[in-house]
Amino acid sequence: MSTVPHRARAAQVGRPMDRADGRAKVTGAARYSAEYAPPGTVYAVLVGARIAAGEVTGIDARRALRSDGVLAVLSHLNLPPLAAEPHLLPSLAGAAASGQSFFPMRDARVHYAGQPVAMVVADTLERAGHAAELLEVSYRAEPHVTGLEQGREHAYEPERIFAGFLPGRIGRGDVDRGLAEADTVVETVHRLAANHHNPIEPAAATAQWQDGRLTVHDSTQGPTATRLTVAELLGLPPSQVRVLAPAVGGSFGSKAMVWSHPVLAAMAARHVRAPVKLAVTREQMFTACGHREEQEHRFTLGARRDGTLTAMRHHKLSPTSPFDDWTEPSLEMPARMYACPNHEGVYRLFRANTMTPAFMRAPGEASGMFVLETAMDELAGELGMDPVELRLRNHCDDDPSTGLPWSSKGLRECYARGAEMFGWHDRAPVPGTRTDGHWLVGTGMASAVYPVYQAMGPQRARVRLYADGRATAETACADFGTGVGAVMRQVAAAALGIGAEQVEARYGDTELPTTVAAVGSAGTGAIASAVHTAASALREQMVARAVADPASPLYGTDPGRVEAAGGRMFPQGGSGGGEAYTDVLRRHMMSDAEALGAWDPPGADGGYAAATFGAQFAEVGVDPDLGLVRVRRMLGVFAPGRVLNAKTARSQLMGGMLWGVGHALLEATRMDPGSGRWANASMGDYLLPVNADAPEVRVEFAEVEDAVVNPLGAKGVGEVGVVGASAAIANAVHHATGRRFRDLPITIEAVLGRGQGASA
Ligand code: MOS
Repeated sequence: MSTVPHRARAAQVGRPMDRADGRAKVTGAARYSAEYAPPGTVYAVLVGARIAAGEVTGIDARRALRSDGVLAVLSHLNLPPLAAEPHLLPSLAGAAASGQSFFPMRDARVHYAGQPVAMVVADTLERAGHAAELLEVSYRAEPHVTGLEQGREHAYEPERIFAGFLPGRIGRGDVDRGLAEADTVVETVHRLAANHHNPIEPAAATAQWQDGRLTVHDSTQGPTATRLTVAELLGLPPSQVRVLAPAVGGSFGSKAMVWSHPVLAAMAARHVRAPVKLAVTREQMFTACGHREEQEHRFTLGARRDGTLTAMRHHKLSPTSPFDDWTEPSLEMPARMYACPNHEGVYRLFRANTMTPAFMRAPGEASGMFVLETAMDELAGELGMDPVELRLRNHCDDDPSTGLPWSSKGLRECYARGAEMFGWHDRAPVPGTRTDGHWLVGTGMASAVYPVYQAMGPQRARVRLYADGRATAETACADFGTGVGAVMRQVAAAALGIGAEQVEARYGDTELPTTVAAVGSAGTGAIASAVHTAASALREQMVARAVADPASPLYGTDPGRVEAAGGRMFPQGGSGGGEAYTDVLRRHMMSDAEALGAWDPPGADGGYAAATFGAQFAEVGVDPDLGLVRVRRMLGVFAPGRVLNAKTARSQLMGGMLWGVGHALLEATRMDPGSGRWANASMGDYLLPVNADAPEVRVEFAEVEDAVVNPLGAKGVGEVGVVGASAAIANAVHHATGRRFRDLPITIEAVLGRGQGASA
């Protein structure tokens, strides 16, 4: 039913358009969840456990309660019961979705350091913070488990991982036979540090009760998910819960699940009979919204002399929480990347004293593809083959895990364009031989891949056209920096045949039509597809009115032969003889017309496999005396299908690639084994690349058409940019130095040959 947009309309989609919220966000005008203070608002402060395992043996709240302005101290001793158990689910599921199945302050057990054990409410933030200091919590500590070496011997194979969505073991063919057929075998072990996402806006919720109805301003990737979760855990009908998130300051997966904060804010607000604001502090962000778990990968790759892969064995060991079997799916996309007939992937977990890990940008792909793509580089070295050539030799036209054809691919073009633009073939044939002053210089490349997630319910949007010629496009989704608001305007404008400037995007409110949370790189494509469907239905409605109206110049025209552009409808093939939408609305005494649109994703069983592919290239300089690695330039070529907005798509991909600099060289949250706490839980101690670390980054698109994934043919760009970026950098470090670093991050100490991660 969706028609192919003609050129005038198509021009709206794809062009670079500024984010709808960009100016407000950079000037400070945007209002975030912690910036709403309904009259009478009071403040809640969380108190985190100081031990990593054991029990709270007492809470002496007397001094805190006597402190000025204090209204309540809530803990396991007096927190009201939940109406339902939290389910570990990602928020796109269209159901209540918690980041972990554990909810704090229901009993005295302590499972991880920083776990909320009390909440202090006072009339100002300062007084709440002061009283929290006066609270005397006593503990009985037990031995804790936090690191790989402590957990290894207790590891088990989980039946399912990733909130139950994926099996704990995958495979095809016979790996032992494949290895026996190999001429060359590469075996690697990689230790990847834990990482934390820390968006500019920390998690925060402001909750207000009015006549039994609850309004929550929540910093979330999915207002609908927050609504459903808060409603279920508090035993409210979802219709009585409104969630607002008009401005969200970044997330990267940290707000893709619903954590305890909005629920606790609502509980506190009911308890003290006033609106309550609960803002997570920067330090608390390290124990509040999940993280990418520390992980060890053992990887074996077998190939024939000509480079053909014969077998791949990939085992991952990682810590999970005491209550959930979670690990990011690091093995799936590496298993589907190349035409290798024999594969075995096994996850092993051990219970540790941390919260349940969570989605973090390209959850699983960023880590797993680092392992595969650096091992491929080692294999290319062993075989004396160019790394691009090795990948081309193992290119797969069908998904090797299912045999289903890819809905579109474009990877060969990504390699070819990337190699050409980067000057790949000029690289020194022998690692460790190119210098620039005292810098060693090298280049590296890697493949990138990210799946297209289709397992979500119907998406809805409303588009309304006013008699003054302006329009609105509405969905419940949040724009946490992805640019979906701009894309909504473009897609609605294209389908209606009006200018995108005439369309206002409204989002971040559960009272608007229900859409999925923006997760898994699927948000913009899914939301835009619903907007496209709604706007197309509205155009058809307007055309139907015109052709049925004797007063219209279009009277009697076949509606299938009417097009729209510039706010006018006219017979196909020319722009004369028609009339403006506004004329029809005025003549019919309509202030506006609107249409709802729904788009049902085709689901996982559509007969196709779907993923976005790309190729990453990096050049580094290494200072051998100081152990410094400087990334000099990066190039990523991606084939994401239809690009809906050239500017926001490029920004997403560039942001992902720059994250690769952090992943490769800097980012690590280190556990202090003695205390069981994260030792560097601050933005001063958790190292991130800053502007001075940022190389020249080029993002290019290889055009592919995808007729399967959604009516717009958009496969998603939110995460694929980070995938393979750290591998390209690590491969470049090898090329520069002749030394292989298999652990992440590649620290200065490792480059200097000291400490963990140093290798030959
Ligand atoms: Mo994204 S890490 O799937 O929210």
